[in-house]
Amino acid sequence: MKFFIDTANLDQIREAQDLGILDGVTTNPSLMAKEGISGKEAILNHYKTICEIADGDISAEVLSTTYEEMIKEGDELAAIHPNIVVKIPMIKDGIKALKYFSNKGIKTNCTLIFSAGQALLAAKAGANYVSPFLGRLDDISVDGMNLIEEIRIIFDNYMFETEILAASIRSPMHIINCAKIGADVITSPLDSILNLLNHPLTDKGLAQFVADAKKMS
Ligand code: E4P
Repeated sequence: MKFFIDTANLDQIREAQDLGILDGVTTNPSLMAKEGISGKEAILNHYKTICEIADGDISAEVLSTTYEEMIKEGDELAAIHPNIVVKIPMIKDGIKALKYFSNKGIKTNCTLIFSAGQALLAAKAGANYVSPFLGRLDDISVDGMNLIEEIRIIFDNYMFETEILAASIRSPMHIINCAKIGADVITSPLDSILNLLNHPLTDKGLAQFVADAKKMS
């Protein structure tokens, strides 16, 4: 399973990259706005910097919602760096844009997936990734993990190459359950990734080893 970090914060991207387990980055307009990035030049520069820090696929989301504008914006984003993946919303014009980029050999990530039918359409249009939003489904008392399972079954039935990129991760348990179900990728805030490290018995055991090591030196 690939690990992406879901942030536009450069320090957090550096920290995850330094860990040595990072396979890519996802961003969205809300995450970019949180970092105070605004204006076309600043946006393009920020993505360029992210590509210089992190290895792997870097999802950059279009801000527009019509076919013509999305393909213009996506072409500009894709020109920044070969690792850019154009992130397209799950709307009718988005499907057409996915097909356009797929025909051009530009990688895409279809975002805001909340149903198996949406994932199926995006895969048919040639998306490289679909992003089902687990946490936002859980927030409205719908089991987001069921959606990952449904998409896994459908993609396996037809051997779609589209990867399931589980998004809107809220906890280490989301990551573990995605791994059990067979999501291809998780994109997560840094704290949920770091929380995978923790176990009280590890802390207790290490404290004992460190104490005993002192007796040996
Ligand atoms: C996915 O690509 C989105 O950027 C993200 O995972 C959304 O997460 P949120 O629901 O925590 O905003």
